Amino acid sequence: MKNYFCKENRCILLFLLVLGFSCQPKEKAIGLLAENAIVVSAHPLASKVGKDIIQEGGNAVDAAIAVQMALAVVYPQAGNIGGGGFMVIRESDGQYHSLDYREKAPLAASRDMYIDEKGDALPEKSQNGHLASGVPGSVDGMVKAHEKLGSMEWAKLINPAIRLAEEGFELSENEAAYFTRASENLKKYSSVDPIQFTGKSWKAGDVFKQVQLANTLKLIRDKGRAGFYSGEVADYIVAEMERGGGIISLEDLEKYESTWREPLTGSYKDFNIITMGPPSSGGLIILQMLGIMENYQVSNQGESYAEYLHLKTEMERRIFADRAAFMADSDFYPVPVDELLDDSYLSQRFSNFDPQKATPSDLIMEGKILSMSEETTHFSIVDKEGNAVSCTTTLNGGMGSKVMVDGAGFLLNNEMDDFSIKPGFPNMFGVLGGEANKIEPEKRMLSSMTPTIIEKNNELFMVVGTPGGSTIPTSVFQVVVNVIEFGMGMQEAINEKRFHSQWKPDQISFEKDFERENILETLREKGHELSERNGIGRVDAILVLEDGILEGGADPRGMDAASGY
Ligand code: GLY
Repeated sequence: MKNYFCKENRCILLFLLVLGFSCQPKEKAIGLLAENAIVVSAHPLASKVGKDIIQEGGNAVDAAIAVQMALAVVYPQAGNIGGGGFMVIRESDGQYHSLDYREKAPLAASRDMYIDEKGDALPEKSQNGHLASGVPGSVDGMVKAHEKLGSMEWAKLINPAIRLAEEGFELSENEAAYFTRASENLKKYSSVDPIQFTGKSWKAGDVFKQVQLANTLKLIRDKGRAGFYSGEVADYIVAEMERGGGIISLEDLEKYESTWREPLTGSYKDFNIITMGPPSSGGLIILQMLGIMENYQVSNQGESYAEYLHLKTEMERRIFADRAAFMADSDFYPVPVDELLDDSYLSQRFSNFDPQKATPSDLIMEGKILSMSEETTHFSIVDKEGNAVSCTTTLNGGMGSKVMVDGAGFLLNNEMDDFSIKPGFPNMFGVLGGEANKIEPEKRMLSSMTPTIIEKNNELFMVVGTPGGSTIPTSVFQVVVNVIEFGMGMQEAINEKRFHSQWKPDQISFEKDFERENILETLREKGHELSERNGIGRVDAILVLEDGILEGGADPRGMDAASGY
């Protein structure tokens, strides 16, 4: 009896199991879960540095400073002391802050410095070499963050980066390949061959040490701001400029100051959005998009997903046109923030939206997406008290200007390309700019970086941001919508394929291997031109789950990693 029963039913059971298994929905991706604190960044070693600082008693801002410095060592393509960034902070008692440590145009910069005698733009000069750099802001930014909100001794926050520079760290296969590829440009654009980078063909497992950078970090540790903006390091920067035809002077370095700004805030349904205002366009773009979307029902189920992507593209098209006309450094140009976020302005702006058809972008000047890297970097931190930091920092392009400051061992940014170098001429991300974002001495170039913190019912809910040039605000928007509207967890929301559009060029780019061909077909039928590309952005984010547990999502498009406890 037993055998008979088993034989018959085993077949049925097996059949049901196979059927059940093949009908299983895709396994839901879950990020790192932790009770106390999480740090998510572009490099596992930097995430660990931040987590260790919190475990040793530091707060989220202490961890952010240590991660910024560690990334300058282990992720030199975008982590930096020679660039700048934005930090958005939410203290556990609900106070918000935003720190602008964006680079500034040097005093000797001028509106037409990248235009030749025939009136043609010279993007090679705004993107590579000594003239491409703005005055770096990262070190002053970290000093300011520490003065206001840090709790641990400054030296303890810099020491982990010094150790990583001095003792070195093992390169992964991808890092080794990237460093080897980058060597040619570093040799070409630096005035002295930076042999610590270029001296060998790197392979996985090689230990990468940076003696000059370790020395620079020691000066920053021992002298704070003065260790970078005056004395030995400042002299190295100015000497590098003089050898390579750059214009950053000792006066520029002495005068540079990062600044605390009122964070840009807005609401969407039950959520408060705390983000970066000008000189970033990112926060404005996110709030404009959410402001319009609040009037629509969106879903990611079946064909409805195509309707959502159509709506998103049409919003992006109009808002990136606003970006080109109205957004810039508000210290120099009266950015009409309130008007841009006004409900009646947004509904008027979107009044010609056709749910059935793409609105062609007005072809005054075609932007071009070049296959440039979008090597900014972002990290998100929540500490055990519930303080949160969302920080995006950059050299602009991968390895910035490709100029290594000889003697000081760090790379300078090529952020000058984020100005509008000639009205109507696209920058390296294909975005257009006009008068508002023209070059002026000491002005900050318009950014797309979007470090953002979200509250739900006034409690901390999400910390989010990404690199990706002009794709930054649209990637942040998508991840936020994936969580808020489509009910995804943090890792799941990050893993989803991304779409991007920006007014010009008149197209939607989407990540390759997107499997829902019917969605693409519907978008084509509505008149959208589609263009497949590699990964868009690298979102590193943290979600507070309903039971208070933190979920850290690290973007699988890079070697990003979460570390927590
Ligand atoms: N450099 C990229 C950005 O600031 O948007």
